[in-house]
Amino acid sequence: MPLHVQPVTPSFVCEFTGVDLRTDASPQLAQAVMEAMDRFGVSFFRGQSIGDEQQIAFSRLFGNLEQSPHFGRKTGETVRMKFPELFDVSNLDEQDRILQDSDARRLYRAANLMWHTDSSFQPGGAGYSLLSARVVPSFGSDTEFADMRAAYDDLPELMKRRLQGLVVEHSTFHSRSLIGYRFTEDELKRRRPTLQHLVQVHPRSGRRSLYLASHASHVVGMPLDEGRALLKELTEHATQPKYVHAHAWQAGDLLIWDNRCTMHRATPYDDMKERRDLRRTTVIGDLPLVETAAAA
Ligand code: OGA
Ligand code: MN
Repeated sequence: MPLHVQPVTPSFVCEFTGVDLRTDASPQLAQAVMEAMDRFGVSFFRGQSIGDEQQIAFSRLFGNLEQSPHFGRKTGETVRMKFPELFDVSNLDEQDRILQDSDARRLYRAANLMWHTDSSFQPGGAGYSLLSARVVPSFGSDTEFADMRAAYDDLPELMKRRLQGLVVEHSTFHSRSLIGYRFTEDELKRRRPTLQHLVQVHPRSGRRSLYLASHASHVVGMPLDEGRALLKELTEHATQPKYVHAHAWQAGDLLIWDNRCTMHRATPYDDMKERRDLRRTTVIGDLPLVETAAAA
């Protein structure tokens, strides 16, 4: 089952070939994938017709998985998925119909159009995300990725020094309010903001990255407008075309990215006419927790 690693860009994206995940998924394969991803932040397999159980089993080889807070709830996002480890990244309702224009879930899911990294609003953030494409539209809907390691490396020394030790508050209140989504009382009760370091050191590669997201609300201890201006400036820097790669989906793709050193966003498609069914599994992250004293 030799895994071949084919660079798609010199240092950010690679394609894996030579394996069929229905039969070749193993701890050794997951190790090889992680080793490749210490160099590349994003990778993908094509032509993998895996089902939900296979996706979950393969993802578990990378660590413990997040569970969707929406799973099994009658209100809220979805009851379409059969397993709590699967995040529904589609434009479909529980009867597999295209979501109506007025459906709140459409707006909720539109948050993916903003640059983000998964679960930065949770302590520890997220590690790898694995996104499996079951049905893809004929046109549009690429997912774009930004290399936050390269973006950090290229910052002027003075800026790197300025960022040392800075802490940022992340929350879904912030990102969802940007698109006008209103949380229910219940959602408000269950969500709390989280503090994260603005610069992260990758636990495997040792490389530094900017850690930013649409969930990043403000810099702790800095005047609100100054901190927001800084986050905006850094986001604009990190999402310049030279750091960005767009993945054009084919049904059967399994794409993996490392949330600790990348940002990503969805791009538009004709979502009132075309179906898109992607399913995500997400490894619970290991970002260092911020001491509350430092953030006071
Ligand atoms: C995600 C996500 C982007 C897309 O699944 O976490 O942001 O293009 N997806 O669907
Ligand atoms: Mn995402």
